[in-house]
Amino acid sequence: MSDKKRVLITGGAGFLGSHLCDRFLAEGYHVIAMDNLITGDLANIEHLFGNEHFEFHHADVSKFVFVPGKLDYILHFASPASPIDYLKIPIQTLKVGSLGTHNLLGLARVKGARMLIASTSEVYGDPEITRRWRSTLAM
Ligand SMILES: NC(=O)c1ccc[n+]([C@@H]2O[C@H](COP(=O)([O-])OP(=O)(O)OC[C@H]3O[C@@H](n4cnc5c(N)ncnc54)[C@H](O)[C@@H]3O)[C@@H](O)[C@H]2O)c1
Repeated sequence: MSDKKRVLITGGAGFLGSHLCDRFLAEGYHVIAMDNLITGDLANIEHLFGNEHFEFHHADVSKFVFVPGKLDYILHFASPASPIDYLKIPIQTLKVGSLGTHNLLGLARVKGARMLIASTSEVYGDPEITRRWRSTLAM
């Protein structure tokens, strides 16, 4: 096995994940992209399939996650990301943020990897409320 650092990018076929795959490969990492393609598209990463330092795993991280070999980093970017998708696939959205995160934290612990989770912008709350809160502060 090469001595390159190895990073698992969940949601690797999505908008942000696919750009992260490009960037980490360019930085000299071995990249493992994992995606169930629920909102992503293989077209976002098809240019990487010939790269010996790139692997694609078609898997649902809400179920079970395993990656052979060492892992240095996990970037958890798997999640539907638009309000339209949240309404269309609410259960899958909740599962990937809860069970998916739980499964990946377990993998990180087993592998001794550091993990970064992409939060949704929904953590800011209802924009209407945020705006009112901001204008209260400005008074
Ligand atoms: N795009 C933004 O501007 C933005 C802003 C803030 C936060 N985020 C967060 O970043 C993350 C990624 O956003 P994005 O815009 O790349 O979304 P995206 O829909 O383009 O990508 C998400 C990817 O995750 C995959 N996925 C979903 N559930 C999965 C599962 N259970 N198992 C495996 N793969 C799964 C999808 O197939 C898709 O490829 C989301 O958590 C989103 O909330 C994005």
